[in-house]
Amino acid sequence: MKGVILAGGTGTRLYPLTRLINKHLLPVGRHPMICYGIERLRQAGITNILIIISKQSAGLYTDYFGSGENFGVNLIYRVQESAGGIAEALDLAEGFVGQKEKFVVLLGDNLFLDDLTPFVEKFKQQPLGTAQVLLKSVDDPRRYGVPVFNTDHPKQIVYIEEKPKKPKSKYSVTGIYMYDDSVFHRIKEINRSARGELEITDVNNLYAHHGQLEYSVLQLWWGDAGTFDSLHEAEVRMRGVLP
Ligand code: DAU
Repeated sequence: MKGVILAGGTGTRLYPLTRLINKHLLPVGRHPMICYGIERLRQAGITNILIIISKQSAGLYTDYFGSGENFGVNLIYRVQESAGGIAEALDLAEGFVGQKEKFVVLLGDNLFLDDLTPFVEKFKQQPLGTAQVLLKSVDDPRRYGVPVFNTDHPKQIVYIEEKPKKPKSKYSVTGIYMYDDSVFHRIKEINRSARGELEITDVNNLYAHHGQLEYSVLQLWWGDAGTFDSLHEAEVRMRGVLP
């Protein structure tokens, strides 16, 4: 299985720091933020990894990670020209993912303590054409994509609401997604949202609509380091995860 880490975008919630350096290279403890995602993939046996980066700080990625050899992985980079949304960034992985091949997608600002191996193993058993999202119970779901469950079959997500004012569950859809190459057909079916982006939630909702979206729940701490508060929390929670 391959891995894709999405590290495009502008990181405006971390201005002015992200005017200087790309969000995913900001320090979390002794390491740049994106190291933790690379390590979670490697730990799950995923060593062929594409990183989608923005033009900002592009050279720093190769300066620091090179081919990935010193980190136990093979890295390829691709540039997303402008921040057109998570699904737009993901679409750039089409040539990297083989036909009928399954892969794992991580948002580069998502930091978490769970080992992905059991979730990856579960996904390997799912039929082609289905997807898996990982959920986490959170205090303030309004900041995230929030799943709405089928009241008769709570194992089924009916749809996901992106940053709802009145969340219908206590869960966040984390930025850990598992697809096969059918996702690229789905991306071509969606339209830009009001904020001009191709939204990953719209892609996931196509799967949900066809009963093809499965989920699992993370057991340990998870957060996205997109704001100064969450970046500081991540710093504390991730302490000791990497030597
Ligand atoms: O962190 C989980 C949340 O991430 C989910 O619950 C939401 O459903 C999902 O939409 C997303 O929400 P955010 O508002 O936090 O996404 P953000 O725009 O901050 O982007 C998250 C990461 O995605 C970012 O660190 C890099 C990548 N990205 C984002 C954009 C907009 C790209 O690679 N390219 C992009 O154009």
